[in-house]
Amino acid sequence: MRTLTTVAECRTALLPHRLQEKIIGFVPTMGALHEGHFSLIRQSKLHCDVTVVSIFVNPTQFGPSEDFDKYPRTFDDDALALSDMDVEFLFAPDREEMYPRVGGISVNVGDVAARYEGAVRPGHFNGVATVVASLFNIIQPSIAFFGQKDAQQVAVIRRMVEDLHWPVEIQAMPTIREESGLALSSRNRYLDEGSRIDAAMLYRVLENVANVLENHGSVGQALEHGFELARREIPAHSLDYLDVVDSETFQSLTSLEPLGERINEGISAAIIIAARIGGTRLIDNRPVTIKAERS
Ligand code: PAF
Repeated sequence: MRTLTTVAECRTALLPHRLQEKIIGFVPTMGALHEGHFSLIRQSKLHCDVTVVSIFVNPTQFGPSEDFDKYPRTFDDDALALSDMDVEFLFAPDREEMYPRVGGISVNVGDVAARYEGAVRPGHFNGVATVVASLFNIIQPSIAFFGQKDAQQVAVIRRMVEDLHWPVEIQAMPTIREESGLALSSRNRYLDEGSRIDAAMLYRVLENVANVLENHGSVGQALEHGFELARREIPAHSLDYLDVVDSETFQSLTSLEPLGERINEGISAAIIIAARIGGTRLIDNRPVTIKAERS
């Protein structure tokens, strides 16, 4: 594996592969790698000729009171794991390389980021879209792999790629979970034993809502069940949101019917949840694929 730290190095290293029309797979990360990242990398290794993984803790996607400084940084372990997986290139730029000037141009994502994570973390998705746009320009991947766990991030990136006519395919891979149902996340490192048990409840709530929905309940009934379970099982006042959304637009759904015609295109709804558990903000989601007869 070659580690590249500058944009120029990256361009030079990837050019021969591009000229040979190799399929370049790209997995953007902020490091602190876990099985969720490894599953994306395995997909890239499977479907692409060359795999590039980036590690960059992107300052512009953290709010002033968020955990940028304490975000886990485990570069040596990460690099070792990537090398063991036969990743061809690791791109690990520093802040000055990615952001050569203060107050530079940024991407402003629209309504897909207006609610949920976008509302709780103002500016977060502009920061994500800006760094991903920059990384796409540097690496020029054929396919980029993202975890479905960050469902709104996937919706934002898909929208950006579509609206800006980017020739890159976005692949979203299923969330990897612990046996308890807890979705893997770099931030799980902040959780103590007790918080881990509380955190696993997020998935139980999602499953509960999905069961009602998939057994022909209404969105209202399903959410009512979910809120009741959350009230009983998740520490008081820790729930940020629980909702059913169109997973493409991230608009709240009061019924599954608006998805009508788009069902055949494989568009689904998602149940989304966010909570602050033991001081750590966690998000999770569960896709609900609407069966045609329900429309
Ligand atoms: O999902 C992440 O780890 C980050 O948001 C990303 C996509 C690497 C951008 O910094």
